[in-house]
Amino acid sequence: MRILAIESSCDETSVAIIEDGKKVLTNVVYTQAIHQKYGGVVPEVASRRHIEKITLVLDEAMKEAGLTYNDIDKIAVTSEPGLIGSLMVGVNAAKTIGLAYNKPVIMVNHIYGHIYANYLEHDFIFPLIALVVSGGHTELVLMKKHFDFTVLGQTLDDAVGEAYDKVARVVEVGYPGGPILDKMAKTGKAIYPLPHIKLAKDSFDFSFSGLKSAVINLYNKYKAQNLTLNYNDLAASFQDAVVDVLVSKTKMAAQKYQAKQVLIAGGVAANSGLRARMQDEMDKMGIILTYPTIKNCTDNAAMIGVAGYFQDKEKLSSIYTTSN
Ligand code: KG4
Ligand code: ZN
Repeated sequence: MRILAIESSCDETSVAIIEDGKKVLTNVVYTQAIHQKYGGVVPEVASRRHIEKITLVLDEAMKEAGLTYNDIDKIAVTSEPGLIGSLMVGVNAAKTIGLAYNKPVIMVNHIYGHIYANYLEHDFIFPLIALVVSGGHTELVLMKKHFDFTVLGQTLDDAVGEAYDKVARVVEVGYPGGPILDKMAKTGKAIYPLPHIKLAKDSFDFSFSGLKSAVINLYNKYKAQNLTLNYNDLAASFQDAVVDVLVSKTKMAAQKYQAKQVLIAGGVAANSGLRARMQDEMDKMGIILTYPTIKNCTDNAAMIGVAGYFQDKEKLSSIYTTSN
């Protein structure tokens, strides 16, 4: 079973071909660097770039795999959530190829894709808890079997990656802020007092806007008083608060649902502090922890191909429920 996968939900135009849900024959990712100068993704610019690049990326992927569209069985494409203009480019490309070559098109949820990025390198052991942390999402998801997702909790305001990017923009260290602040945090010490917002004790929801504001307020206060703020220490303090909250809520969910595996998914799964602290805690609990290699953490079409494979295999239009 060969799946041609297309991802265009944000600022990456990506095309992959996945064989039998695991083997990556090609995974071409074009990242739109243009957004760096704005300190964030500009939706209209993003969709226009996707239009310019989609056929080039498709051609490159087919060439790299040495295949033609006739060698493909099915097409998987990210259909939600994401920037609407950007999503439409990928979906239209998928539908056009599907129509021209008579191939079925599987509509894939981007979050499922991030979760299934883990499957490229590790099998799943159920029940598992997935911590999905990206630029647009922060969710704790319970999976009892393939393609069965129960959202236990989610952010009530900013996503983790979004908080990283906004803090980085205010302190003017560059975009995307996550990898930059992560690197700075490595040489800093968590000396600045910042709120570790855990909401209600039994809640799996998150809130990061208060923490983000606290960092920005601290920065402005030091600036106004002409005091020296150590940026690396600030990054370390911010990261410490983020990681503490993410790890403690994940531990709570893993305990409650007797998880055999915990996985981290999404762009923020690349975070070194999160990986290290989660590993320590999961080792103590005897739970298997997985996270994708760095290149598979951020948006790419291979993960959409794997999710599409399982969606099709399970013959499900997907179960996506919210727990009480
Ligand atoms: O999953 P992704 O590529 O796009 C969305 O679906 O949103 O995630 C991008 C996000 C950005 O906010 C970026 O700053 C963050 O992931 N990110 C990180 C790291 N690498 C990427 N955040 C923290 N630490 C990192 N090392
Ligand atoms: Zn993503």
